[in-house]
Amino acid sequence: MRNLMVAGNWKMNGDSTMTSELVDEIAAGYVGSDSCELLICPPFPLLGLAANKIQGTSIFLGAQNLSEYNSGAYTGEVSALMLTDAGCQYVIIGHSERRAIMRETNEMIRKKFYAAIDNNLIPILCVGETLEQKEQQLTMEIIEQQLKSVIGDNAASLTNAVIAYEPVWAIGTGLTATPEEAQSIHHFIRGIISSISQEIADNIQILYGGSVNGGNAKGLFSMPDIDGGLIGGASLTASDFLSIVKATNK
Ligand code: 13P
Repeated sequence: MRNLMVAGNWKMNGDSTMTSELVDEIAAGYVGSDSCELLICPPFPLLGLAANKIQGTSIFLGAQNLSEYNSGAYTGEVSALMLTDAGCQYVIIGHSERRAIMRETNEMIRKKFYAAIDNNLIPILCVGETLEQKEQQLTMEIIEQQLKSVIGDNAASLTNAVIAYEPVWAIGTGLTATPEEAQSIHHFIRGIISSISQEIADNIQILYGGSVNGGNAKGLFSMPDIDGGLIGGASLTASDFLSIVKATNK
């Protein structure tokens, strides 16, 4: 039985005042009866503060990126060991903004994925097609490439990992995939994994991301292969984020 997860990707937003207030408000509103795991992913400089603020709660902490290297002369980079030391359990890898703006390739993403695994961080591997690729009906091909270039035939690498399907055309646009559209891609992703390991396919959480809000979350989360959401804009306001959390409840 898979748990649902609601994860907040703050992107490059927030400061220490916002972090203190937002984490307090989320912690106060996230109650034992809520039926999802809850994760926040603030920017690097706010991780230490967020780690302190979530102490004594069951909220998890994640980062938005990491270096493929463990240490050394890589100015400006942050390693997996630094993230676990700061209190992270998760790290987002291969977000479409990093693929498009920072020119991260599938090969770089593969290295980052294993840097996380090797250091006991749970990677949240993001996959998804652009609007152009969708219009050319390349969605499945692109997603299979993104997934296979990281895991190869080694489904075991997904034993402690999460996948996020984030159609690029739905991110920050207000356009969401319909629950049925998203379900069909999630089912496709689980199918790729099941062709290597049925057990891992059955257990892995596959999150949906792209303009999720309190209004559309319930429909998405009611789909059999959608195990929660990776939330951008709506994760920056406690009431919006908590309305998505509440949408996981029966
Ligand atoms: P929005 O929820 O703002 O569309 O962002 C989704 C996202 O990119 C989460 O990683």
